Amino acid sequence: MSFPTERPRRLRRTPTLRRMVRETSLSADDLIWPMFVKSKGEDEPIKSMPGVARYNAKRAAKEAKVAFSEGIPAVILFGIPDKKDAIGSSSWQKDGVVQRAVKAIKDAVPEMIVICDVCLCEYTDHGHCGVIKGETVDNDATLELLAKQALSFLHAGADIIAPSDMMDGRVGFIRSEMDEAGFREHAIMAYSAKYASAFYSPFREAAGSAPGFGDRKGYQMDPANSREALREVLLDVEEGADIVMVKPALAFMDIISLVKESTDIPVAAYNVSGEYSMVKAATMAHAINEEQIVMEILTGFKRAGADLILTYHARDAVKWMQG
Ligand code: PBG
Repeated sequence: MSFPTERPRRLRRTPTLRRMVRETSLSADDLIWPMFVKSKGEDEPIKSMPGVARYNAKRAAKEAKVAFSEGIPAVILFGIPDKKDAIGSSSWQKDGVVQRAVKAIKDAVPEMIVICDVCLCEYTDHGHCGVIKGETVDNDATLELLAKQALSFLHAGADIIAPSDMMDGRVGFIRSEMDEAGFREHAIMAYSAKYASAFYSPFREAAGSAPGFGDRKGYQMDPANSREALREVLLDVEEGADIVMVKPALAFMDIISLVKESTDIPVAAYNVSGEYSMVKAATMAHAINEEQIVMEILTGFKRAGADLILTYHARDAVKWMQG
């Protein structure tokens, strides 16, 4: 049977009809707001990411509290430390930038879920995600340091640990160190399918974490691969991940949907810095309608299979959802 018996337009006739047959809906509950935290001083806007700034702990707590009252359930924190060294030791100090921000946020709004990104790149003077041996990042020597960092964030009050380093075996290693330290009930959100992507450059300005030499292709995934993403995801699930992530999101919607079909744990999609900056630049050039574009992009992630979305648009999106 086809036209004229079939007429799909019949269900598109009015806004209410469209509302009734809509397959995907966005909710504030799905959003995770990324924040950059530093040790002191005024808010520092990130040039390439209009609307995003680095906050000190006190300001981060204030903003997080407002975000929670607007409906955003969770933040993910990235630290900009005062000091960097070869092994990223400032990331596991008791009074480190992230530790202080976690405490301040949990004090101000205890119900909010605080996620901590675990990686060395923001804390190393060479900008790589692990320790360097010769010209490469030493996988196994890095695991110990990542676990140290994760435990330090947990002791400060973090709810979820999110390793983004892409070392092999890190989820299992961190999981067993967490269990041993008594954090058995704390979850891991693994950056499982994380690609070596050009979409991260504004983040690297924001976090001051561009690699000093070479690139990250020796540990992050090749954007040409999808079966490998599945392998990474299944390994992380086996190692104890509670949530798996696909990153970036826009050019990797097929991966989001593949991962969703292949796992039964929540899937997160990271709408990364470059994706945000492109929308902002096009908005400022009056080429697009920001609200409509952002809602379409976020709905697309959900339709593809994302249960959770990490996005710098979170605060705006929540306002737009409420109309
Ligand atoms: C690594 C990390 C990066 C991002 C999140 N965690 C950067 C990288 O791998 O170079 C990128 C996020 C974004 O671009 O918004 N700690």
